[in-house]
Amino acid sequence: MCGIVSYIGPKQAYPLLINGLKRLEYRGYDSSGIALINNDGLCVYKSKGKIADLEENVKNKNIEGTIGIAHTRWATHGEPNNVNAHPHFNETMDLALVHNGIIENYDTLKVMLKKNGYHFQTETDSEVLVQLIDFMRKKPRTNLLKAVQLALASVVGAYAIVLLDKNNPNQLIAARKSSPLVIGIGDNEYFVGSDATPFLDFTKKVIYVGDEEVVVIPRRGDIMITTLDNTKVDPIVQHIEMDITALEKGGFDHFMLKEIYEQPESIMDTMRGRINVEDCYLQLGGIMDYKEKLINAKRIIIVACGTSWHAGLLGEYLIENLARIPVEVEYASEFRYRNAPIFADDIVIAISQSGETADTLAAIELAKKKGATVLGICNVVGSSIARATNAGSYTHAGQEIGVASTKAFTSQVTLLILMSLMIADGKGILEKNQKKALIQELMRIPEKIRKVLEKAPEIQRMSEVFTFARNFLYLGRAYNYPVAMEGALKLKEISYIHAEGYPSAEMKHGPIALIDKETPVVFIATTPSNHQKNISNIQEIKARQGRVISIILEGDEEIKRLSDFYIEIPDTEEEFTPLISVVPLQLIAYYIAVARKCNVDQPRNLAKSVTVE
Ligand code: AGP
Ligand code: GLU
Repeated sequence: MCGIVSYIGPKQAYPLLINGLKRLEYRGYDSSGIALINNDGLCVYKSKGKIADLEENVKNKNIEGTIGIAHTRWATHGEPNNVNAHPHFNETMDLALVHNGIIENYDTLKVMLKKNGYHFQTETDSEVLVQLIDFMRKKPRTNLLKAVQLALASVVGAYAIVLLDKNNPNQLIAARKSSPLVIGIGDNEYFVGSDATPFLDFTKKVIYVGDEEVVVIPRRGDIMITTLDNTKVDPIVQHIEMDITALEKGGFDHFMLKEIYEQPESIMDTMRGRINVEDCYLQLGGIMDYKEKLINAKRIIIVACGTSWHAGLLGEYLIENLARIPVEVEYASEFRYRNAPIFADDIVIAISQSGETADTLAAIELAKKKGATVLGICNVVGSSIARATNAGSYTHAGQEIGVASTKAFTSQVTLLILMSLMIADGKGILEKNQKKALIQELMRIPEKIRKVLEKAPEIQRMSEVFTFARNFLYLGRAYNYPVAMEGALKLKEISYIHAEGYPSAEMKHGPIALIDKETPVVFIATTPSNHQKNISNIQEIKARQGRVISIILEGDEEIKRLSDFYIEIPDTEEEFTPLISVVPLQLIAYYIAVARKCNVDQPRNLAKSVTVE
């Protein structure tokens, strides 16, 4: 999920690798490491913390060598520390590997390798991969390339890897699936990077490695690309036109937009290794020990702030509807100060992207003091909240840089869906067919989000019409009520336009007084069970000259006719709608903020992690 840099050529590798890692710092990381081959053999240095810590660590050590691999880690399996940092080794310590991504079936592979006499030093999924390559290498007539191909063919998940072999200082092997990897072709030298930023000063000639392709990179001569079944692939050399800043943002104008577009992948990453459609399997490893407690819970309390609180509200709807357990959702700050009764058999779920929010941490401490079981849903591995809770599940959305949360939100909701389904299944509420149908549909969500993202130009044109609005109202029912609040929060945060999110039926109890031709109303009308009621509400708005931007299901001609603007989204199970319906709202907020020339990624007065109460 984070960063890879590697080098082979005539120059000293260490300075190139360290500077390359610094170029990748924008992606966020918790530890870093480097491996070089020199007179001392294979030298590996790893450090928790910043790249400066790694530089400190290598002082007075042998950093010679013209071949090397380097990594910044954004932990997914195992806390961020010196041991879990990459590169990882095989047992005989002659292979070193850096890996970005997640190996979903690492557990099964680890059991198999242990049976074959392998021992493990780290908690990572990545170490399993390097040991697996070693294991494959021992098969007859298997060279290192074949071993990599065999290992990767038996791996489920996402990977970008580079492998260094102590006994062959004239070759690197790289491969990828789902995680990015690009080769830079210099003058008698090759670079490898998660993107081209680490080597842009040396070359603009690149080859983007394709999915499930393995690349042999020699010290001299041409690189060779094969598929996992050893079919040769012709390399396509391209020239990069972008500068470093544009590259960091993946060619998008802002990190927020990049993160909105990443959602199909980040949602997949949240589900990775946790569901299997064929076997109808559904498991959240991190909270396995608490599964029975969850199934038997009398009450669940969700605590969170801001966008994570909105995800929590959806958690309430999901858990109550699917798993039939009463849920309360609290602002962490209020929970702490209002002397709420908390019982030892309560389960408290704390949701936080950063895992550092002071209000949420304080609520956790209180719940623990009262003897409740506290589970966490965090994005940042090893964060304070992840450590303070009894157990938890990570969202694995990858680093979120934009202050306004987007992909972290949809990953939180995805995780809450998985949790609700897991509890419902454990309680025997879900029939096998029903469970299978829901899992299958969940797997289709990323594709459906892609369809919404294709509408971005149309959403941009529409949003620009509202650049000068002073107030916005967002309305939605049931699963779309928390989405309405999230849409309003996004707009407030980055465009500084006042916006309110309300349940649609509440409009008549107050907010209807605000409606006039100056007040746009974003109406999320994608819940078929309330179709007629939605129509009535929209008519009430139109009767007061309000301007309606509706988010509707594809082909909803009736609401289309009533709306000033509409955005169609694909249909799905009602429980999953928020994952899709929130995307146009994120885009509306983004395009309005851009039209108002606001600082989208770092809006005024806001911080990415709020560590004060
Ligand atoms: C989201 O767009 C906001 N920046 C903010 O509301 C955020 O969700 C809140 O501060 C909670 O942060 P957390 O998820 O890191 O705990
Ligand atoms: N899953 C691996 C780990 O936790 C790689 C993480 C990354 O992509 O940085 O170590």
